[in-house]
Amino acid sequence: MSIAIVYGSSGGNTEGVAKLIQKKLGKEADLIDIGKADASKINGYDKLILGTSTWYEGELQDDWESFSKDALEFEGKTVAFFGLGDQEGYGGEFCNGLRILYELAQGKGAKIVGNKNSTEGYSFEESRAVVDGQFIGLIVDEDNQSDLTSSRVEKWVESIKSAF
Ligand SMILES: Cc1cc2nc3c(=O)[nH]c(=O)nc-3n(C[C@H](O)[C@H](O)[C@H](O)COP(=O)(O)O)c2cc1C
Repeated sequence: MSIAIVYGSSGGNTEGVAKLIQKKLGKEADLIDIGKADASKINGYDKLILGTSTWYEGELQDDWESFSKDALEFEGKTVAFFGLGDQEGYGGEFCNGLRILYELAQGKGAKIVGNKNSTEGYSFEESRAVVDGQFIGLIVDEDNQSDLTSSRVEKWVESIKSAF
């Protein structure tokens, strides 16, 4: 069973959270910067934790944007998602980019976990990272609530651990 934590990060925030997830998971998991990887490398793992920050008013982080996403395989894999955004500066499109990653895996035979996360404690107007009233993954806001990051990561990792 091989686990990869795959992230796209422009300023280092998502990378930092990826490292924290790795630490809290406490299992062997490779960290992969999507800006330095190709799809065949990622396709070699059977458990994936995929993360992106949101940029340009609701878009994916740059490296994810230019990555050949359609070449990613999800059949039979366990997948979880995490996203970073700024709920005060971009409260109308908070973490929208994560939905783009999430939809990549939809309908492709993946077992998606960690996707029923409470929105309590966040304050925003709209987010495409919310489905049926819950976040589709771990949501972190380093711009406004960095003091909550560690506990949010810990709680979420605990909730996905048995699947990983
Ligand atoms: C130009 C710019 C556009 C952004 N657009 C969004 C956005 O649409 N939605 C959002 O939630 N956050 C947005 N953000 C906030 C970033 O996602 C946030 O700062 C994140 O922590 C950056 O992570 P990174 O350093 O890993 O790229 C934006 C930030 C900048 C500077």
